[in-house]
Amino acid sequence: MPNIPLHIAVIGSGAIGGTVAAWLAQSPAHRVTLCVRTPLNDLQVDTPGGRITARPQVLTDPAQATPVDWVLTTTKTYDTAGAARWIDALAGPATRVAVLQNGVEHRDRFPAVSADRLVPVIVDIPAERDAPGRIRQRRTGTLTVADDAAGRAFAALFAATPITTVLTDDFATAAWAKLAINCAGAVNALTLLPAGIAQDPAVAGVMRALVAECLAVGRAEGANLPDTLPDDVVAGTVAGPADGINSIHADRAAGRPTEADARNGVIARLGARHGIATPLNAMAAALLATRAP
Ligand SMILES: NC(=O)c1ccc[n+]([C@@H]2O[C@H](COP(=O)([O-])OP(=O)(O)OC[C@H]3O[C@@H](n4cnc5c(N)ncnc54)[C@H](OP(=O)(O)O)[C@@H]3O)[C@@H](O)[C@H]2O)c1
Repeated sequence: MPNIPLHIAVIGSGAIGGTVAAWLAQSPAHRVTLCVRTPLNDLQVDTPGGRITARPQVLTDPAQATPVDWVLTTTKTYDTAGAARWIDALAGPATRVAVLQNGVEHRDRFPAVSADRLVPVIVDIPAERDAPGRIRQRRTGTLTVADDAAGRAFAALFAATPITTVLTDDFATAAWAKLAINCAGAVNALTLLPAGIAQDPAVAGVMRALVAECLAVGRAEGANLPDTLPDDVVAGTVAGPADGINSIHADRAAGRPTEADARNGVIARLGARHGIATPLNAMAAALLATRAP
């Protein structure tokens, strides 16, 4: 008897959802369903190794969904409520749910999914969407998950793709280290200036201070972070392209909502729980939550 393909539903067809859905659909071992807000016909992803295409089943309403083996949710953090409606329809008793998002609150965002079935994923795949279904994947990239049964099962989905999956025995540290980079990116969203502003000593000082708050709160949350983290984040930014635009800067410049709560607000919220002062991250979250009238 032929093997039944694993049914994988990907919520969101943006840069990350479109990229992972297209790669997963290359394998006959997978049946991929895209759960979208904006309809599309097919996926074309320009990857570092050339263009790949896919024509997965596309659903536009959770009422059309039935339980699947895997759900991969890839909306921005501020669209969690919409993603949760899809998960309610897609998740049966054995469904695993992977959350491919920034931040350290992958589990908190989806309290209805039981802990042993939820896989938090740290995404390091630079990609952008030019039009519905049209995506540029700039680097092969990595997906980092905990080295547990659910994390290993998630990694196996990508075994036949070039995307590297990293299994870590300290997911909290990996997630907080990524958050340290992301929280410093607030300076770009606030000034609407690209990465090169990190060369300004005063701006670099603000970035270090943002990261120092993240470091203190992350340690209180159990992450094992080095004292050098603030300097490391600035040095990493200065070493990259001066015209680089991070996603929160791009969102702010385009007048879209931003992930400031997941990148800065979380540091202030968790800091308050531990009695750690986080005035810079609180300020960044408050200012970036404002929208033009
Ligand atoms: N892109 C990167 O390079 C990158 C790198 C590292 C981490 N990340 C993280 O990965 C996550 C996803 O980012 P992204 O860049 O892929 O964002 P994105 O390009 O904005 O894509 C988000 C997708 O979610 C869809 N969506 C929102 N609400 C929905 C709903 N109710 N039902 C179905 N789909 C819905 C959007 O629909 P529409 O098509 O209607 O807009 C869009 O297709 C974020 O947390 C981001 O920070 C991204």
